[in-house]
Amino acid sequence: MSAAPTERHAALAAIRARADACRRCAIGHTRTNIVCGVGNPFSPLVIVGEGPGENEDRQGEPFVGRAGELLTRMLAAIGLRREDVFITNTIKCRATVEENGRIANRAPSPEEMSNCREYLDAELDVVAPRIILALGAPAAKSFLGRDFSITRQRGIWYPGPQGTQIMVTFHPAYILRQTGGNMAAVKRLVWADLQAVRAKLDALADQPAGSPPAGATQPAIAAPSPGEVTQAPDGPVALRLDLS
Ligand code: URA
Repeated sequence: MSAAPTERHAALAAIRARADACRRCAIGHTRTNIVCGVGNPFSPLVIVGEGPGENEDRQGEPFVGRAGELLTRMLAAIGLRREDVFITNTIKCRATVEENGRIANRAPSPEEMSNCREYLDAELDVVAPRIILALGAPAAKSFLGRDFSITRQRGIWYPGPQGTQIMVTFHPAYILRQTGGNMAAVKRLVWADLQAVRAKLDALADQPAGSPPAGATQPAIAAPSPGEVTQAPDGPVALRLDLS
């Protein structure tokens, strides 16, 4: 698809309107806001998370809570700003469960993911990315099948829809739940996956098909300048994701 910027924004707004009117799942009735993708509709990189949580539901924007803060820092570690990429989720409504009298987040059900798939596919059609970074098992399984094992099969490239290539890494919320040595180990793996994404973006930048069309309002994704990302024994993600 080679639409002008305004056409891509309009197409995304139309997808949002359709998702907003959707009540196929019970969570369509309990959500506060629909949460569709945001960011650069010309980005060669689309990030796909699981689904909106409480903060996202309240604000109507993906990855605005603690996991979102961490995602922003993960992107910064490979020289990307949040607004350079397109960020979305497998489902557009908050999936909840009642636990001890309070409402908690839960993973999307296969039925919810299947009901919502048309909106994710439509977003991918409009943005036409070269790379998809799937965060966490539900996002990975939605592209690579329900037998996909994030612990055994993340960190390598897979063919994705419409000629994309998919990298899977751990979800930032999962990283935040780790402690001590586990957290350091998970961060090292995530850092390796992010570096693979950066390297692929750089390789694609040499190919004209990956360039934004003339008139695109957002800049192409630039590689970090030398020294911008500080290498450390356990990688910059570990440095920059220090939450203490
Ligand atoms: N986790 C997700 O997977 N998506 C969001 O938008 C926020 C948290």
